[in-house]
Amino acid sequence: MIYSEKVMDHFQNPRNVGIIKDADGVGEVGNPICGDVMAFYIKVKDNRLQDIKFQTFGCGAAIAVSSMVSELAKGKTLEEAMKITNRSVAEELGGLPKNKLHCSNLGADALHKAIEDYKEKQKKKEEEKTPSSADKFHCPYCDGPVEELENYCQKCQIELEPCPECGQPTRKDQEKCVHCGATKVGV
Ligand code: FES
Repeated sequence: MIYSEKVMDHFQNPRNVGIIKDADGVGEVGNPICGDVMAFYIKVKDNRLQDIKFQTFGCGAAIAVSSMVSELAKGKTLEEAMKITNRSVAEELGGLPKNKLHCSNLGADALHKAIEDYKEKQKKKEEEKTPSSADKFHCPYCDGPVEELENYCQKCQIELEPCPECGQPTRKDQEKCVHCGATKVGV
C-alpha cells in the first residue's frame, strides 16, 4: 500500500493530538466499517477555532486525516470550518489508497459534530439567560403576560407598576399591592 509523503508525515508526526479538558465543543464519531473512533475537542473565541485537539483510535490513515483536519481548521471561523469536507481532507493529504478512503470519512464529520455541540451549548446558555414566558411578569388579575417595559395588561386594560415592596406588578391606581398588601406611597 502506497501512502503519500504527506500522509506519512501526519501519521508519524501528528499535530494537535490530545484532549482539551474544558472544551467548548466535543465531537465523536465511529467508523461503521472498521469500528475505529475519532474525537475532536475545540475551543472557540470570537467565532474562530482558537484551539483543536483530537484523539483517534484507528489506523495510520485515520490519524493522518485527523491531524490534517486539525491543521486545516485551526484559526478558521466556524462557517469556514464547516466547509471542510472529508473529500477535501483526503485531497490535501495527496490522496489515500482506495481501500483506505473510508478512513477519511471520519475527520471532517467529527470536527463538524464538535462545532454543532458548541453551537448547541451556546444556544442553551442563551436560553438560560433569556427569561422564559414563565419568568415574565403576569397580570395579577387575569394572569396574562405583561411586558416589563410597558407595565400594561392588554387584556384587563389596566396600568400596572412594580410594587416597591415585593417587586410584583400591581394596579397603579390602587393603594395596596395585590400581592403583599404593602401600602404604596403617593397613590
Ligand atoms: Fe479504521 Fe482506517 S481502518 S479508520
